[in-house]
Amino acid sequence: MMTRALEKDSADIELIPALPEQEPILANLLELYAHDFSEFLDLVLGSDGRFGYGDLPLYWREPNRRPFLVRVNGNWAGLVLLKRGSVMSGNETVWDMAEFFVIRGYRRRGIGTEVAHEVWRRFPGRWEVRVMQSNHAAYPFWEHAIAAFTGEAIPSVRVENAGNYWHLFSFESRRIP
Ligand SMILES: CC(C)(COP(=O)(O)OP(=O)(O)OC[C@H]1O[C@@H](n2cnc3c(N)ncnc32)[C@H](O)[C@@H]1OP(=O)(O)O)[C@@H](O)C(=O)NCCC(=O)NCCS
Repeated sequence: MMTRALEKDSADIELIPALPEQEPILANLLELYAHDFSEFLDLVLGSDGRFGYGDLPLYWREPNRRPFLVRVNGNWAGLVLLKRGSVMSGNETVWDMAEFFVIRGYRRRGIGTEVAHEVWRRFPGRWEVRVMQSNHAAYPFWEHAIAAFTGEAIPSVRVENAGNYWHLFSFESRRIP
């Protein structure tokens, strides 16, 4: 899908629609994701020793949800979960980047940026990216990835939803002719 030069080699980065039988792989990656989030969110492990992600099965049941795996040079490296419908405004045509994750060993090599751009190319239209105010590392990442994609700096707005504060980026992904 995409080829990107890494420090020493060249990376083959794939964004793969996840099949129902790949749900356990996504569930494992979501544990790593939740562990990262537990640094700044009050997440606790269940009695089974897992954070869990209750909505995951819905990604194969509901047509407005899309699950993806990220593979780099043949190895699992992250995930993307998309939802159609704005969490903030209720606008049903907006694409929402519900979850986005690159595992630690692959970070700061441009992989997250490449994957986000591929997602926006595949799903043209109005997009919303929400970043929790407490997720300090993700904010500069999205600022950079969105500006590189749209060609302009997109300012975020601070919004509140169910008692949580977010930075919200809204922009258009145009279909490439
Ligand atoms: C946020 C995340 C997806 C970034 O992935 P990545 O592959 O490391 O991102 P990139 O290498 O494409 O980063 C591109 C640029 O974004 C900025 N950036 C990325 N991570 C950053 C960080 N931790 N701190 C500050 N800036 C950062 C930098 O400008 C970076 O360019 P540089 O490395 O040349 O300085 C990854 O750190 C992650 O999965 N974090 C945990 C989950 C998460 O927070 N997801 C987002 C939910 S809203």
